[in-house]
Order: sequence, then structure tokens, then C-alpha cells
Amino acid sequence: MPVANPQLLAEKILERLRAKPGQLLDPGKMAKSLNAAREQIIESIALLRSWGYVIKANHKRQYRFIAAPDSFISTEISYRLRTRFIGKRIHAYQAVQSTNSIASQLATAKAPEGTLVIAERQTRGRGRLGRDWYSPEKVGLYASIILYPKIHPTAAPGLSLMTAVALADTIGSYDDMEVKIKWPNDVLVSGLKVAGILTELSAELDRIEYVIVGVGININQTRADFPDALKSVATSVRIGTKEKIRRVEFLQRFLANFEKEYLVFKKSGMKETRRKILKYSYLQNKEIRLKLGRKTVSGVVIDIDETGQLILDTKDGIMAFNAGEVTTH
Ligand code: BTN
Repeated sequence: MPVANPQLLAEKILERLRAKPGQLLDPGKMAKSLNAAREQIIESIALLRSWGYVIKANHKRQYRFIAAPDSFISTEISYRLRTRFIGKRIHAYQAVQSTNSIASQLATAKAPEGTLVIAERQTRGRGRLGRDWYSPEKVGLYASIILYPKIHPTAAPGLSLMTAVALADTIGSYDDMEVKIKWPNDVLVSGLKVAGILTELSAELDRIEYVIVGVGININQTRADFPDALKSVATSVRIGTKEKIRRVEFLQRFLANFEKEYLVFKKSGMKETRRKILKYSYLQNKEIRLKLGRKTVSGVVIDIDETGQLILDTKDGIMAFNAGEVTTH
């Protein structure tokens, strides 16, 4: 059977070109082994180039793979992705308003668990507490993952915390950086925010219909890239490592860590996750102020419990909180 789908054929050719780095491949021979016409091979090479792959040809029109683009296209994300179900379905866009909104629509239409929605930029990226999430192209990572966990809605904050662990492990895998998790869902490097998580759910009182875990990560920004309002509070993985990061590789590492943590969370709830949260906790033993709507509570952070609540030692005794905005000074 000839390969009719041009995208599929292009991916097969790419696989072959990459399997033998540096080696020249002949379009006639590829055509034979892929049961396609030589012209189709040449068209597919043009398609791959239009996606950003660098493929050189010699005077005999034999092809050699040179480099892959660092852009969020599904072919590149899937290439050697080591997960079982997270990121196995990909919806990749150049620009969207918000990947979380698209993921919600897909979840309503019952997209498979683990479906990834990713965009090069967002025009209305959303942060927590009704804030915007600054989402410029080329430097950041904006993605949402669809989940259908069979957990009680009150356990959902644990999903943000397990995502924070997966992010912290991923960032920490690059360099010896001081990565911390600031409850409830910020990831910090050297005390500055490098990533945020927006977990949204559709649920009944006692049952979750779906969860969207949205992550925004500053990857390749230099200090000069941040707008003035963010300069003193934000950082990027690149600023931490002092090296430009391949964003697709970061995503693949994150998806693998995310899957691992999600499976642990599904099996043992917050028990295991909590151990890691405490290891990364930025707030442990710190004197903080927690803003809850119009009210503010002060106290010392003594724990994060097994439901993901922040435990504060306040002047009125020990108290537990499941939401709020923390300031440390
Ligand atoms: C925060 O720290 O306030 C959470 C930020 C979450 C941003 C991500 S980017 C991908 C996804 N889509 C959105 O609109 N928001 C989340």
C-alpha cells in the first residue's frame, strides 16, 4: 500500500534520515522502500523543510539530515517521546487565545486522557486569580494537558502540586539550580518565578468530569526580554543555566516527569507527592502573609498536608488553607 498521507510519508522519511545521521539517502531508493513515487519523496522533503527541518541535498539530489527545528510541531514533540499516554495526542498551534480554553473544548468532546494542547504564543494567556499570563513566542512554553482522574474534587489541588514537582524535577535536570516550589503552584529559581500552573476543572459536587493542567514556563528569555513589570519577579531556565535550552527537549522531559508523577498520585494520592513537595518547599518555616479575598492571615508555614493544604502557625492557633496568595515580606 503506498503511503497516501503526505504528513505520514514526511514523518517516515524523517525517521530514515535521522536514523543514519550524516549519511546521504537517495530519493529513488527511499521511494522504493516506502512504496511511494520519487516525486512524492521530493515533495515530502519540501514539506519537512517548510516545517523548519534543515535537510541538505548534494548535486545528485541525495539528502542528508542536518538539524531539527526547536518549535512545537507535533512531529518534533513525538520524536522519541518517552511516555505511554501523556502527549500521545497533540494539538499544536502557532497562536491561540489560551491553550487551557482549547483543552477544555477538547475535553468536553472527550479527547483522550493525556492530550496535549500547545501553542507558540497566546494572545490571552490566563494566570491564577484572573491575571494575564505574558506569552510571547519563541522563548516560552505554553501547554495544557487533559486528565480524567477518578478523584474527589477536593483532592484536585494535589494535581497542581504534582505538576509543580514534575516541573521542578525537569528544571533541576538541567543544572544545579536552586529550584523551589512556592505553594500553591509557582515554581521558582533563585527566588524568582520561572513557571506557573493553572489547574481548571469541570466537576460535579462529588465527581470530576475533567481537569485541565495548564503550564506556562519561561525558558529562553534573557533578562532584557521581560517587560519592566516582570523584571524583578521573573526569571527563565536559560538565565538559571546560562545556556539556551532546546524547548522541545524540555517539553519531552517534562511530559515524562509529569506522567510519572501523575501515576504515583493516582496510586497513592498525595503521600509520595507531599514528600517531594516538602523537599522543594520555598515557604517551609517562613513567616508569610496569606491573602484570602479581602482577608489576610499571617503566620509561619509549618507543613503542607496530605490534601495539599498549607498549614500555618498563626496567633489564633494552627490553621489549614487550601487557596490564597502568599507574600513573604
Ligand atoms: C499562574 O502562575 O498564574 C499560572 C499561569 C499559567 C499559564 C499557563 S500558559 C498555558 C495555559 N494556558 C493559559 O491560558 N494559562 C496556562
